[in-house]
Amino acid sequence: MIKLRLVILGFGHVGQALAGIVLDKGPEYRRRYHLDLEVVAVADSSGAAVNFSQPASPGGSLPLAELLERKQGGVGVGLHPIYGRPGLSGEELLRTVTAEVVIEVSPTDFRTGEPALTHIRMAMERGMHVVTANKGPLVLSFDEISSLARVRSCGFKFGGAVAAALPTASIGYYELAGSQIHRLEGVLNGTTNYILTRMAENNLSYDLALQEAQSKGIAERNPVLDVEGWDTAAKLLILTNTLMGARANLEQIKREGITGLTRAHLEDAQRKNMVVKLLGVAEWKDGPGQGEVSLKLQVSPKWLSKDHPLAGVKGTEKGLTFYTDLLGKLTVIGGGSGPIPAAGSMIRDIINLAREVYGLDR
Ligand code: HSE
Repeated sequence: MIKLRLVILGFGHVGQALAGIVLDKGPEYRRRYHLDLEVVAVADSSGAAVNFSQPASPGGSLPLAELLERKQGGVGVGLHPIYGRPGLSGEELLRTVTAEVVIEVSPTDFRTGEPALTHIRMAMERGMHVVTANKGPLVLSFDEISSLARVRSCGFKFGGAVAAALPTASIGYYELAGSQIHRLEGVLNGTTNYILTRMAENNLSYDLALQEAQSKGIAERNPVLDVEGWDTAAKLLILTNTLMGARANLEQIKREGITGLTRAHLEDAQRKNMVVKLLGVAEWKDGPGQGEVSLKLQVSPKWLSKDHPLAGVKGTEKGLTFYTDLLGKLTVIGGGSGPIPAAGSMIRDIINLAREVYGLDR
């Protein structure tokens, strides 16, 4: 049996869902994978909960179900009467706690990457593996983090940040190894796809459709990040830099969201037997000079004919098409959206990390 002690940094919808899965499916993972997952510290904006009963090695077991119940009742983990450390930051927690894997799910910041960037650096400096769903650090500092992971021999997985339940980065990395991906085309944001689907198929207003997406827990805390195309752009950028050998940044992406679309646009598309999708496209193209190549990066609403591979991506689903030199064209569509699928994608990353780093026997 391999035991992994987990630290969860960020106890919002996804962090809580992850804790819930560890509680519910822990026995199954012990049986199926011989993998014992234990959450030994949790941090949120109130502080942290950590077991200091062995001061030389803080991070023993925690009453996770109770922490979850209190959190769902609005009480932060730092306020737990026995294990709570009010005001203790994620950074301070990482200086003391003993664990194998840090789960980074604090709120995303595309400008600074913080606090996640510091968390990830600190975790790796201390030799801890990192699983993150946080796009900020990946958009800003992917090269730095991945080389730190290599130098410190840390596992590093981020499938939760790039469409989560829809496998994207792992398909490119494992299944398309040896091929050049010269074009990526994706419906990468569940919120905007849900809004466009509900407006087109159910005649809903934009505002109502957005409210529904928010109530499903899929919209960003600041939905401007979804509807103005930032979330799609960030995912596209991470995939482009990690799979297509690019070194691009967010400013290079031509970006237009869905706020300029009306029901009239969608009706017009329907009349022409087309659908409108917010599409992210990355493509290596011949550059201006001979032998030069340049990267086209664009996020914008696109009118797709019904036989386009991504035209059938509906509601909260996402989809991605890879165009490769050796393995042809490959499209993947589907996957759940929301806190449970997002947390499930991080569990997938933890198990695969354990397979690679510790050689799980199944
Ligand atoms: N807000 C995102 C979406 C989920 O709607 O797809 C996190 O990436």
